[in-house]
Formats: sequence, C-alpha cells, structure tokens
Amino acid sequence: MKSALTFETYARCSTTKGRASILTLPHGPVNTPVFMPVGTQGTLKGMTPQQVKDMNCQIMLNNTYHLGLKPGQEILDEAGGSHAFQKWNGNLLTDSGGFQMVSLLKLAEITEEGVQFASPHDGSLMMLTPEHSMSLQNSIGADIMMQLDDVISSLTTGPRVEEAMWRSVRWLDRCIASHKRQDDQNLFAIIQGGLDPELRKKCVDEMVKRNTPGYAVGGLSGGEEKDQFWRIVSLCTDLLPKNKPIYCMGVGYAEDLVVCTALGVDMFDCVFPTRTARFGNALTMKGTVALKSGKHSSNFGPIEEGCDCSTCKNYTRSYIQLLVTTKDTVGCHLVSIHNVAFQLRLMREMQEAIKRDEFPAWIKQFFAGYFGDQS
Ligand code: GUN
Ligand code: ZN
Repeated sequence: MKSALTFETYARCSTTKGRASILTLPHGPVNTPVFMPVGTQGTLKGMTPQQVKDMNCQIMLNNTYHLGLKPGQEILDEAGGSHAFQKWNGNLLTDSGGFQMVSLLKLAEITEEGVQFASPHDGSLMMLTPEHSMSLQNSIGADIMMQLDDVISSLTTGPRVEEAMWRSVRWLDRCIASHKRQDDQNLFAIIQGGLDPELRKKCVDEMVKRNTPGYAVGGLSGGEEKDQFWRIVSLCTDLLPKNKPIYCMGVGYAEDLVVCTALGVDMFDCVFPTRTARFGNALTMKGTVALKSGKHSSNFGPIEEGCDCSTCKNYTRSYIQLLVTTKDTVGCHLVSIHNVAFQLRLMREMQEAIKRDEFPAWIKQFFAGYFGDQS
C-alpha cells in the first residue's frame, strides 16, 4: 500500500540492535528512537499543546475512541481535523480505539463485525468497526493511524490468542480497503499473537504481505514476565523489514525503553509519565522520586539536577512538595512537564549514544544510576 513517510537509518549500534533514524512524516521529521506522549482527549493532561511543542516534542498521540465520542466526528470535520483543532503543527498518531475500549470498558464485546460497547455518556450501544475507526481517523487526520485490532490481555492463553491474531489480520484488510487518505496518512499494522512465538511469526508474515508503511508490536506490557515480553519484541524486530519503523505499543517505563531500543524498536508511547505525575511522582535518571514525601520539604534543589525543563529551571522540590500535598493542580502540571521532558531527554541521549557507537556503555551507566543509590 501507499506510504506518506520516509525512514532513514543513519546510525546502527555495532553490538545491540539499536538504531537511530529520521522518520519524516507529513508534519515534519521525527528523530527516533522516540517516545510519544499521550494526549488522550486532544492534549496531554495538564499541559497545553504549546508547552508540549516548546519541549521539542515532534509527535504525540491522540485516541480515536475518545475524540470520536467527544468532540465527535462532525466537529472534527468542521474544525478541519485534530491538528487544526488543537493548534498542533507537529505530528500526531492515533490509536484505533479497540484497545482503549477493552481496557477502559469492561462491557466491550468483540465480534467479527467489530467492538461493541455501551457509550459512557448515555449507555447507548455503539459499534466500532474497522471501517468506522478508519473513517474517524481520516477525520482526525493523524500522520499515523493504527489499524483496529482484536486486543486481548497478554496473560490470555488458549485458542482465543490465535483467534484474536487472525481477526486482527482480517481487520487490517478491512482498514486498508476503507482508508481514504493514503497520500497524507500512514496506516500501521499491529502484530498480535500473545506470548506464543509461532503465532507472532505467522502474524508478522501476514502483516508484512500487506506492506504497510510501518509496523507495531501490540498486546504486550500487560503484566507478563519481562523476559517473555523482551523475547517477543526481539523476535518481531528480527522478522520485520529493516527499512520501516517499528513501534512498541503501551511501553513507557525507562528500563523498558532502554531494553526495547537495544532490541531495535523505534517508537514508544505510554500514559505512564503523565499519569504518575498526577500522583506526585517524578521520573529521574536515578529512578522515581515520590514528591509527596516529607523528606523533600526542605530540599531547595530542582526535581533533577541538570534537567533542562521549565519546572527544574524555575521551581524547587520543596515548593512542588507543597503543591502536590495540598493537591493544587499546578503541582500536577509542573511534574507532568518534568516527566515528559525526562522521557524526551532519555530518548535523545540514546539517539546520541547510538550515533557515537557508545550505546552499550551508555546502557551500563544508565542501569547503574537508575537502580543504584537514590538521593
Ligand atoms: N496500546 C497498547 N497495546 C495496544 C495494542 O495491542 N493494540 C492497540 N490498538 N493499542 C495498544
Ligand atoms: Zn525537569
């Protein structure tokens, strides 16, 4: 199928499978490996699109399920799509909606037709089909759209895993057939198949035959053992074409970003950095800092020494500790800014280490700091 992107790998790690590339999308270049923060309802919770842009974020996520319910397709069309609606000139990626429904709504029911669910607004029954997901994603206008897939928990075993894998293949065909903007929107396939290497191999074969502009690895990071998670990621990056971007969905812990980058993944997303910020947890190279703890009340240093974010440049741990313990939304806002900046900085450091071909040494130093002494 048609592609509205280019993907140029300019550096490869000589020891790991890590690579540094430039992914050029309709709204500009993206340096990879990249972490894409999640703006579920059209902006990152607690931050304006302008603030996200000021951090040099080149791509963020939106969710089809949420935007389709509110503001809804009519208003998205009237606004001229999600970029114009949000005044966001950077790139957007939309997830197709199925995962959000299955993870958020216990009531979702999957049939061959699509995912049926009760609207959280009025309880009426709605059906998200591959065709409807594509139509909504064409209205949103994201630079990358994800196929509707049949998502199951990564802990599911038995015939349901194979059923979901084959259904995801059939749904990709329906997505391709109904995709109306192939000149300026890229559709990515999603590899499913649970923790079964044979099913994953079969799924890669089928998806690669469809020749989409990029591929995602889905159905992971749902409570399985790390070693199983990493084996599946590694198998997929070995089998997928080397000249296209690979996206590992729903992964955002720093240690997973580092390991999966070394396994050859180019793109990641997760709500974790912004969600944990709302609980007063700050991400740093020395691990997570719980800012609610009284031990920060007389610490007049920044969240993280050397961080270039506007929170660290302007505010102290002591002040932020007060805001998060008194539940002022400004506290969430300041920690969210730091956490997103942290993720972007982590990815930038990996790009640079790969470019210098010093990635293994960088990984060692990262793990020593991250799991070493807290301060
Ligand atoms: N987000 C995290 N995992 C998944 C997945 O398997 N499919 C989709 N569509 N989104 C995800
Ligand atoms: Zn900071």
